[in-house]
Amino acid sequence: MYNFDKLIQRRGTNSYKWDMIARKYKNDELLPMWVADMDFEIAPEIAEAVKKRADHLTYGYTYAPYSFYESIINWNKKRNDYDLKKEWMNVSIGVVPSIKAAIYGFTEKGDKVLIQTPVYPPFHHSVTAAKRELVTSSLIFDGEKFNIDFDDFENKIKSGVKLFILSNPHNPVGRLWTREELEKIADICYDNNVKIVSDEIHSDVIFRGNKHTVFSTVSEKAGKISIICAAPSKTFNIAGLSTSYIIVENEVIRKQMWDAMDFMGISSVNLFGLTAGEAAYIHGEKWLDEMLEYVEGNADFVCEYIDEKLPKIKAYKAQSTYLMWLDFRKYGMTQTELTDKLINEAQVVLNSGADFGEEGIGFMRLNIGCPRSMVKQCLDRICEAFK
Ligand SMILES: Cc1ncc(COP(=O)(O)O)c(C=O)c1O
Repeated sequence: MYNFDKLIQRRGTNSYKWDMIARKYKNDELLPMWVADMDFEIAPEIAEAVKKRADHLTYGYTYAPYSFYESIINWNKKRNDYDLKKEWMNVSIGVVPSIKAAIYGFTEKGDKVLIQTPVYPPFHHSVTAAKRELVTSSLIFDGEKFNIDFDDFENKIKSGVKLFILSNPHNPVGRLWTREELEKIADICYDNNVKIVSDEIHSDVIFRGNKHTVFSTVSEKAGKISIICAAPSKTFNIAGLSTSYIIVENEVIRKQMWDAMDFMGISSVNLFGLTAGEAAYIHGEKWLDEMLEYVEGNADFVCEYIDEKLPKIKAYKAQSTYLMWLDFRKYGMTQTELTDKLINEAQVVLNSGADFGEEGIGFMRLNIGCPRSMVKQCLDRICEAFK
């Protein structure tokens, strides 16, 4: 049994989540529930592997060994029923840099790139920073979960889009897309000559009764047009080690993607990231399964707490990710009023929904990848400020 209740002092470690926000607001009391990493200790087997490698005292340029790829192949076979081949894969310093490489590799300035909003802010910035035209298709809430408006999606794709960036599962709404939904996406994109980057960084963080579907596995068409980006970073809480991987089945697209990555110099991965990633995929499954159970308990706790004490907020349990998308619209506040109240009165830091697209106005994203006592402290503070 791993101890996910343990409170770890992360202040003073240059943690983005803890120290950056304290610096920005000059306030050490703020409870950081924003950036998507977790306040849990990693699996001890990962730490042991990194320490062993560190003890060797040579930290020169390192390539990804076959054993690293093999650990990913075995992991995907076991967890995702996916038979993937070593020659389809490459490594990268991160999923966002890989998405940027795909934008540079598959589109020209002024080309249209589609995203489904609300969505992870770097999807927006990566497109606009590259001077491509951002096209958005809004997800629709049916009272229980967010869905794709396929008419709108198809119309947008047909408007001349060259590349679609999919969040699978979706950050921030926590949807695991079904095989049928993914197949439909693949058909529409294939028929209109649109390539798809499927960002699957959250694909291991899924709750009981759900299953992740790797996009390229849903149909032949999907395999022909997709670039899959995944990583051990969210799964095992090792984001600071900057290591991810990419899968491209189609040989022509693969060459184009590898060339773009080469041009951007993003395949030279940190040696500790490789060591940690491999150890995680080989030894980390038990830790992951326990972590998922714990975080799902946090999600249930949030839903019950909000139902009982903060009924004006609408919360719903995600199928995936340790992120919750909270609807504060019943308070009738502007986004600035909402974030100011949370930071200055409640002293909690959540991500502002507006950063995920205009559909996120009135929403906040809560990170529950932390000890339950922190989640409770956060909700108590919100309750006190909003009562
Ligand atoms: C959907 C999504 N993609 C990518 C990333 C970041 O990936 P990386 O750190 O590998 O660039 C995150 C981090 O929160 C994320 O939520």
